[in-house]
Amino acid sequence: MCGIVGYIGEKEKKKIILKGLKELEYRGYDSAGMAILKGNDITHFKAVGKLKNLEEKTKNFTSEGFGLAIGHTRWATHGKPNEINAHPHLGEYSYVIHNGIIENHQELKNELQEKGFSFLSQTDSEVIVHLFEMFIKEGFGAFEAFEKTVKKLQGAYAILLISKVDKEKIFFAKNLVPLIVGKSSENEIFFSSSDAPLIGYAQDVVYLHDKTYGYAQKGEINIYENSVLQKPKFKKLSISKLSAQKEGFRFFMEKEIYEQSAVASETLMGRVQKNRVILDDIDDSFFNEINEIKICACGTSYHAALASSYLFERVSKIKCSVEIASEFRYKEPLLKNDTLFIVISQSGETADTLQALKMAKKAGLKTLAVCNVDNSSIVRISDEILLTRAGIEKGVASTKAFTTQFIVLWMLALKLGELKGNLGQNIVESEIETLLKVPAVLKVDEKIHEKIRRLSKRYLHGHGFFFIGRDLFFPLALEGALKLKEISYLHAEGYPAGEMKHGPIALADSELFTVALMPKTMLYDKVKSNVEELSARDATILALSPLEFDIADDFIKTKGYDHPMLEFFEMSVIVQLLALEISVRLGNDVDMPRNLAKSVTVE
Ligand code: F6R
Repeated sequence: MCGIVGYIGEKEKKKIILKGLKELEYRGYDSAGMAILKGNDITHFKAVGKLKNLEEKTKNFTSEGFGLAIGHTRWATHGKPNEINAHPHLGEYSYVIHNGIIENHQELKNELQEKGFSFLSQTDSEVIVHLFEMFIKEGFGAFEAFEKTVKKLQGAYAILLISKVDKEKIFFAKNLVPLIVGKSSENEIFFSSSDAPLIGYAQDVVYLHDKTYGYAQKGEINIYENSVLQKPKFKKLSISKLSAQKEGFRFFMEKEIYEQSAVASETLMGRVQKNRVILDDIDDSFFNEINEIKICACGTSYHAALASSYLFERVSKIKCSVEIASEFRYKEPLLKNDTLFIVISQSGETADTLQALKMAKKAGLKTLAVCNVDNSSIVRISDEILLTRAGIEKGVASTKAFTTQFIVLWMLALKLGELKGNLGQNIVESEIETLLKVPAVLKVDEKIHEKIRRLSKRYLHGHGFFFIGRDLFFPLALEGALKLKEISYLHAEGYPAGEMKHGPIALADSELFTVALMPKTMLYDKVKSNVEELSARDATILALSPLEFDIADDFIKTKGYDHPMLEFFEMSVIVQLLALEISVRLGNDVDMPRNLAKSVTVE
């Protein structure tokens, strides 16, 4: 996810910007840049890759004395991660940085091009600076021109803009992505995407609301909403960096569970229209002659793969097989050229997945990576990529990566179904409508979290957990069990609910904890019978369902969405929270569980 910092004041601006961007590194990025306005000059720098490259480029530059500065780390969405696409984007005399996606950028670009504006980059962000200069050309003052610009934008944005037409001000706007503005006792102004860069600099901050915009100048912040000046609501900034990065949550894993709703919006942004899915720059012809799909991944990514296989067969009507990458590597697999080979990886560096990808490439298959880290080894090697846009995941136990992977795979299933002529337009439209509800479904329900917190104390012992479910909810059961064992160190297994009677039911007694996933939209009666079989043998049942279930020892009532995918995402958050709370009660290190690494680059 992109990061933004800004500064108005007398101090060495380059240093403040670089330090601020460093604090935002955890969000993930593939290029960085800054622009500094001092006197009559604007100087800008951009560099691909790590911040040290930007540092190197700016090493002979100093910028003391009053001025303005803006800095940006870019996580590529529109256009490759290169210097031209890095921010700031330039007009003739103005510079802009932007986080988010301007959904109507193509329409605005056409309009601007007709008026003679030319574009350098492939980004959606560049329209902002040209729009601003267009309004200046039309005779508006700097603030009016900025206000008119913002009113033309649709989508998500945190924007900072500086211009030689007004050398005292940074113009800003915010909608759907975070932007904070703060001031220091020395009348300096700071901007940032999160608290961490502001600590030690700003004492009082305003967390900007959606659809607000305005300008800041020495010691002064003017915030507008619908052309009306607002009274800024200042808050005192906390002073701990770690807690700033955790944004008040106890653990990164908890923060990442809570941020799933927001990152899901990022995952969807620019990829869905009312009646079709647009998969970034992947040309439809890439999917020509594909009759089969094979997916390879490890761990949680494997579970996302397994869940998506139900969608590829049911929704796209394409044969789909899924393999654990470490098994695939040595089984001498038979690979056919009409198979699309998909790899899924949060890190993009998992050794087994990477090797599986290399094998498929060698065999001449078309390859596609669903990955969270741009420029990772897997992304570099794959023919095509779909980035999950979850932002950096710090907790070793994967949560938001899983969610965003499955959203991307759902979009891919819809796209393929449509391309293969297996999905009617009305179905595509109604599926997209449901897809757009996912961010709301992923919002953590505080009451349910509290209930899980209370329930967790009953599940700290026993001789094991079974997570059971059917269909899509079987991979979710696997994922729930993996989450629990990773951070609680208790034994847990995920099992297809209908398979319990073929062996594992022998383990049933009151010390066997069964977490039953019982959505109302997916084989409810079948799962119910399986759970009754377990209950009859005295297993302790924790049921997740929108439908009351008398024989459950513990019951978490879900909302009862009327689409299995929405029930899936709701239950996914619940099993993540359950693992988290059990681990907290056991006093374990939630973010860094024993024996585990975030990126597994060995076999
Ligand atoms: C579980 C977890 C691991 C990873 C696995 C694959 O919470 O994080 O199981 O999912 O190591 O990693 P990636 O997705 O980076 O290839």
